[in-house]
Amino acid sequence: MTEDRKERQREKYRAADPAEGPLTTDQGVAVDHTDDSLTVGERGPTLMEDFHFREKVTHFDHERIPERVVHARGAGAYGYFEPYESCAEFTRAAFLQDPSVRTPVFVRFSTVQGPRGSADTVRDVRGFATKFYTSEGNYDLVGNNMPVFFIQDGIKFPDFVHALKPEPQNEIPTGASAHDTLWDFVSLQPETMHMMMWLMSDRAIPRSFRMMQGFGVHTFRFVDAQGHGTFVKFHWKPKLGVHSLVWDEAQECAGRDPDFNRRDLWQAIEAGQYPEYELGVQLVPEEDEFNFDFDLLDATKIIPEEQVPVRPIGHMVLDRNPDNFFAETEQVAFHTGNVVPGIDFTNDPLLQARNFSYLDTQLIRLGGPNFSQIPVNQPVAPARTNHRDGYHQTMIHKGTSYSPNSLGGGCPALAGADGYAFSHYAERVEGHKIRKRSESFKDFYSQAALFWNSMTDWERRHIVEAFQFELGKVDAVHVRERTVEQLAHVDYDLASQVAQGIGVARPEPGANNHKPQASPALSLDNLHGDGS
Ligand code: HEM
Repeated sequence: MTEDRKERQREKYRAADPAEGPLTTDQGVAVDHTDDSLTVGERGPTLMEDFHFREKVTHFDHERIPERVVHARGAGAYGYFEPYESCAEFTRAAFLQDPSVRTPVFVRFSTVQGPRGSADTVRDVRGFATKFYTSEGNYDLVGNNMPVFFIQDGIKFPDFVHALKPEPQNEIPTGASAHDTLWDFVSLQPETMHMMMWLMSDRAIPRSFRMMQGFGVHTFRFVDAQGHGTFVKFHWKPKLGVHSLVWDEAQECAGRDPDFNRRDLWQAIEAGQYPEYELGVQLVPEEDEFNFDFDLLDATKIIPEEQVPVRPIGHMVLDRNPDNFFAETEQVAFHTGNVVPGIDFTNDPLLQARNFSYLDTQLIRLGGPNFSQIPVNQPVAPARTNHRDGYHQTMIHKGTSYSPNSLGGGCPALAGADGYAFSHYAERVEGHKIRKRSESFKDFYSQAALFWNSMTDWERRHIVEAFQFELGKVDAVHVRERTVEQLAHVDYDLASQVAQGIGVARPEPGANNHKPQASPALSLDNLHGDGS
């Protein structure tokens, strides 16, 4: 099936063709003069009754909406996804069953820290969020270009982001990582160390959105038609391979062309050089949940590919630029909670927090509860809800809106038990209500060390230089020292080189009291992700 149902839907929402008639007001009244206000005489005051002036300026006054609290700067594109073969063995997700079915997608790439007008090529994580408009509803895979995250529990996210953002008194700096508050936070929260290694690596300055990987990060759950679950991690791999800028290039681009990545994406699509990514999955049978020396629910850990290979299951092509940046790229609303039958959550505490946060933030960012009616957010599967009213309601609902309902006349029937409806995975859970993280989340350094050990000499040099550059901007000496102490748990040589570069004492030899597991299965060679 090649017809793009999303494109057909978008067609209905395109504004009237400007070539087909004169300028009008919002009410459709033709306008013959838009440069002079209605005044008393040629030099007198403007009249209240000038409805064209009032409407024009009022609308302009209200053009801005709040930017995203994180990932404010982004660029998006439409495209399609095709599975290579049926994945029915693991999931009943409709869009993963038939290689002849193309599912429309919208993808938004983003930086995390900077505001909407910041530069593209800063050292930062990149968002890689995909909305699949499937025949059974929207599925959002809201990932990043790094496979792990800074924190293990979403309750720390406000603290982390407050530390990451510019200082409250003067909004300095706008760079991603070079300031005291971030390093204060990370040196006090050692679970961040694995992600900080990625952030100081060249992965944090991708050359192009077309040349970076994407990761779902969390362990999710596939569910088959019989209700049987399999743990799954999602990986996007770019067909062009993974390529980064070097730091000097990144800085020069930020100065000469702050839109470097955005422009590259737009121009490639306009030129017909469509970005393409392969979707792969790491699958872990439920019975193997505890067979790893880390916790599958810990988002600061990867599953090494030697232990669980990535299995390619489909590919995505981005072949259309949006028509309107605000309407589409700015108003798109991704949400980890948008899942379809066949894909479910796990108890990863970071994921559980996200499942609350996205809808909550979008209620304010997009002005109320009806933002799923915005064209870019509308599913192609028909939405029949009992939701009514609210700001920006654009649907004309008929009939009643409650259930159960013996009067009929509006309320949709419930889906039958034919496997079409979403039913939550019936996981058995029990325990006391406590605020205490499992001991299985407490190894903060093994995979950070593994990452470092997998690097070539020149990659290590870039990482050391990045730490020296960023930490060199930290004023508080005790924060520099504490960060070096943390690095000593990852690798003594790394910590020593960084210490030397930023003028603090080297850690004591032997300060590396952490011994990473020696298992060869944990080598990270495969994480270079060369796209081959
Ligand atoms: C936005 C990824 C953790 C809250 C985003 C976006 C991405 C993303 C890609 C931008 C979506 C877009 O392009 O519109 C991730 C990943 C995470 C993570 C991969 C960890 C694995 C969290 C956590 C929270 C959170 C823990 C909160 C508890 C938000 C919020 C937005 C956002 C509030 C703005 C959404 C909007 O305004 O539409 N995230 N995030 N994120 N994220 Fe996350």
